[in-house]
Amino acid sequence: MKNNPVYCALDVPEIDAASRLAQQMGANVGGLKIGMELFYARGRAGYEQIARFGQDIFLDLKLHDIPNTVAAAVRALVPLTPAYLNVHAAGGAAMMAAAAHAAHAAAHEAALPPPKLLAVTVLTSLSDADLNDIGVRGTPHDQVLRLAALAAENGMDGVVCSSEEVALLRREMGAKFKLIVPGIRPAGADQHDQKRVMTPEAAMAAGADILVVGRAITQNPDPGRAAKEIADSLGLNA
Ligand code: C5P
Repeated sequence: MKNNPVYCALDVPEIDAASRLAQQMGANVGGLKIGMELFYARGRAGYEQIARFGQDIFLDLKLHDIPNTVAAAVRALVPLTPAYLNVHAAGGAAMMAAAAHAAHAAAHEAALPPPKLLAVTVLTSLSDADLNDIGVRGTPHDQVLRLAALAAENGMDGVVCSSEEVALLRREMGAKFKLIVPGIRPAGADQHDQKRVMTPEAAMAAGADILVVGRAITQNPDPGRAAKEIADSLGLNA
């Protein structure tokens, strides 16, 4: 099978439910996303229980603090060997550079693979008015591009972006910069609270590297089959 770009978001606080989902995914996803909900509820032990299924993990903790504190947090997380780890680009150049340096240094010292570091640019929940309220002038697109460029200059391997921005970022940031896209829904699936969604095929065609899929898989009565259907739609099981 070709590399599967789909990461299933395990957005559940209960470790048993998360483990069941991880098991049901089998070879039909390329990885699993563990976010704040599961990590804050179940911690490292919960993470390790999920990691036992052998999938790549995107640890979505969106770190944002002074450079020294974020670097220390990254060093503490490197032994978990997530494939991807993220920080907020709004933490600034020095914070991202410190995170990148800490990831490489800690991984080197422990002879472990370093996580790829991703930056969150603008949360998709923020409207133009919300950005204005926090003092950001210009459009969300301008801000996303500015922060993506800053992220690339400061050691980030890519960004998490909405489906609306993926084509633009692929054009502007080049082929190697990783683009991780949530808000993915197979054609006809429930949109839930996502304002803008894209099908897996369209997001890949627009230049995505990783598709984060939560409820379209996890709330399906047969999550394993839902994941398989997405893989099929991408031509991965052919
Ligand atoms: O259930 P659904 O597929 O909408 O879940 C999307 C996942 O991606 C959730 O874990 C959500 O936190 C995450 N995410 C998002 N939009 C962003 C960044 C992350 O939906 N801009």
